[in-house]
Amino acid sequence: MANLKKKNIIDIFEAKNPKNGNAIQKISMLTAYDATSARLCERAGVDIILVGDSLAMTMQGHDDTNCVSIDEMIYHTKIVVKNALHTLIVADMPFTAYEISVQDAFHNAGRFFKESGVRAVKMEGGLNIVPQVKALTGAGIPVMGHLGLTPQRSAMFGGFKAQARDTQSALKLLKDAKALEEAGCFSIVLEAVPAEIAKYVSESIKIPTIGIGAGNACDGQVLVFHDMLGFSDFTPRFVKKYAALGDLAQDAIENYINDVKNTKFPIDEHVFSMEDEELQAFLEQAKNISD
Ligand code: KIV
Repeated sequence: MANLKKKNIIDIFEAKNPKNGNAIQKISMLTAYDATSARLCERAGVDIILVGDSLAMTMQGHDDTNCVSIDEMIYHTKIVVKNALHTLIVADMPFTAYEISVQDAFHNAGRFFKESGVRAVKMEGGLNIVPQVKALTGAGIPVMGHLGLTPQRSAMFGGFKAQARDTQSALKLLKDAKALEEAGCFSIVLEAVPAEIAKYVSESIKIPTIGIGAGNACDGQVLVFHDMLGFSDFTPRFVKKYAALGDLAQDAIENYINDVKNTKFPIDEHVFSMEDEELQAFLEQAKNISD
């Protein structure tokens, strides 16, 4: 890992709005949910780790993200925070933690801050969550927004479907993005929206957009750890698989089972031995025990 300073939201803003004639930098974000994924992401030098509520699907095996609880999210976030000390970490506020009231949002974001040590949260929604964003940022809690396909509301969309594909919904997305920026968000995830709309939105606001299925004009990109490494059974069209670790793991597990069944594992190099003298003495004395 090149840079040992802990990344923060100012670094993320400056990636899009560089000072002193520096070049614009694209922002990389990946999800992580445990010590292994957090360490791998940090060692590789990712800019932001998202403890996404996608863990309901990738770690818990649910069909959508709605079942994960705030306690479970805090549990995973705490582990990631402990294992990626130099990376900006953002925790997803799960379904029902913030939508209805500012009090809920503040209480639950406060729990994330105090119990997990994370220093930024993400919430799905636009104009409808502006009071929550203002309250949190006013209290010193950085907020990342999330627009387009907002998976916590997938039941309303009739599934995981691309959004903002007609004029009116694209205009709504633009208004939502501007409202989130105005309310104090430090960045916004744009998920599954037409590349042209994501480009227009990205060029219309100063805070960085982080795209997933939103084309490469976004200021950064995010992928789900399990999807990009090939662990997921289903991979959305917009995901690039950078490895097929699921297949590798499956082969390895099958080889292990085969070795066990055929006494090919363990062999000499995997076992402990004892001095011959000690062994002889043991065998002598063991007879008395078993007699
Ligand atoms: O939960 C998650 O992983 C997310 C990303 C897909 C942005 O929200």
